[in-house]
Amino acid sequence: MIIAVDGPVAAGKGTLARRLAAHYGLAYLDTGALYRAVGLALLDAGRSADDSAAALAAARALDPARLDDPRLREERVGEAASRVAAMQPVRDALLEFQRDVAARPPGAVLDGRDIATVVCPDAEVKLFVTASAEARARRRHAELTARGETADLDEVLADLQRRDARDQARDAAPLRPAADASLLDTTNLDIEAAFRAALSLTEGAC
Ligand code: DC
Repeated sequence: MIIAVDGPVAAGKGTLARRLAAHYGLAYLDTGALYRAVGLALLDAGRSADDSAAALAAARALDPARLDDPRLREERVGEAASRVAAMQPVRDALLEFQRDVAARPPGAVLDGRDIATVVCPDAEVKLFVTASAEARARRRHAELTARGETADLDEVLADLQRRDARDQARDAAPLRPAADASLLDTTNLDIEAAFRAALSLTEGAC
C-alpha cells in the first residue's frame, strides 16, 4: 500500500505520515529531506542555492544515508531547499529514489508536495493536509523555540508565506492537491485528533 501525504510547510503532514507508517507497518520517506539535503550540500560547498548546475550535481550525488543530518532542519537549509525544489532537473534526479522506496513491499508512506500528483499518482491513499498560515506559523515557531533557536513569530509567518508562494507558483510540480486527494484541515485539531481523522480518511480510501 502506498499512502501519499502532501501539503504546505508545517501543516503537520510529517507527524501524520510517520504515525500512519508505524500504524500500518509501512516504510516512511520524508521527501522534503531530499531537497533539504541538496540545499545543504550547496551551502556546505559555498555555492548559491540558485546555482542550477551545482544543484543538479548534488541531487545526482545524493547519499540517502545522510538524510538524518540534524542540520537539514535549519531554516537556512529550508530556504535553500525551496529554491532547488523549483528546478525541474533536480526534481527529475530525485524521482527514481522516491519511486523505489514506494515500490518496495509492503509499501510506504511518502510525505511531500507532489507525491500524489507526480511521484505516486497511483497511490491507494492520497491525503492533502492543510492548516491556516497563522496556525502553521505558531507551530513552526514553537518547534524552533523548543530547539533553542530564537525566532520572531511575525518573521516565521512571513517566511512561511514566502515559501508557500514559491512552492505554489513554480512551474515544476507546483504544490496543489491531486484531483482525487482527501483534504484534511488541521487548523483546529491537535495531533491526536488529526491522526484519527487521517486514519478514518485512509480507511475510507482503501
Ligand atoms: O517539507 P520541507 O519543508 O522539508 O520541504 C523543503 C522544501 O522542499 C520545500 O520548499 C518544498 C520542497 N519539496 C518539494 O518541492 N517536493 C517535495 N516532494 C518535498 C519538498
